[in-house]
Amino acid sequence: MRKPIIAGNWKMYKTASEAKQFVEEVNGLVPNTEKLDAVICAPALFLAQLVVSSKESALQIGAQTMSEQDEGAFTGEISPVQLADIGVKYVIIGHSERRQYFGETDKSVNQKVKAAFAHDLVPILCVGETLEHRENGETGSVVEAQVEKGISGLSEEQITQLVIAYEPIWAIGTGKTATAEDANEVCGIVRKKVASLYEDQTAEQLRIQYGGSVKPANVDELMGMEHIDGALVGGASLEVESFVKLLEAGS
Ligand code: G3H
Repeated sequence: MRKPIIAGNWKMYKTASEAKQFVEEVNGLVPNTEKLDAVICAPALFLAQLVVSSKESALQIGAQTMSEQDEGAFTGEISPVQLADIGVKYVIIGHSERRQYFGETDKSVNQKVKAAFAHDLVPILCVGETLEHRENGETGSVVEAQVEKGISGLSEEQITQLVIAYEPIWAIGTGKTATAEDANEVCGIVRKKVASLYEDQTAEQLRIQYGGSVKPANVDELMGMEHIDGALVGGASLEVESFVKLLEAGS
């Protein structure tokens, strides 16, 4: 049985006081941690404060990206050592916006995934196709290649702790959601790819999220699918009410 995981990705939204207020309101409303992992991936600026604010609750705090380096002359970057030191538990790696606007490649994504594990952070590795890929019937091959390159060199044990988020790029922030069947099909392709590289029981333990216009109205159907173990949520994670509804649906 895989434990569901709902992760909010706030992207570049909220001020410090809004972030603190959100977490204080959500703290008492997070369902039993045995049933669900609930995560907020906040802007780096607020992470330390939010770790403290959520200390007594089951809510866990994640980062949205990080450097693959432990330390050094890398102006503006934040390292896995620094994230782990302040109590961050998760980190999104290779979100399509990072790949598109900040030049992240499958190679750097793989380095970051390994660096996250080296410091006991759980990576949420994002994969997904563009609309053009989908229209050309290339969804499966594109996603398989991203998965294979992204997880290269990981151990069986690390795969069981990893989270992969399948996010079709055309569904992000557009209001267009993949149908539950289509999302499940691609998440199944991800699991099958992992099973071709690792033991079957390892692939069975891998948690796969769907992301792309997930909201309270569609989360039940998506999470009811065989290969979908949770959601990576942008817009609908910004309001307390809708985020809590997503958590309730997931648990
Ligand atoms: O990381 C989250 C995704 O990019 C989905 O964003 O829920 O606003 O479509 P969205």
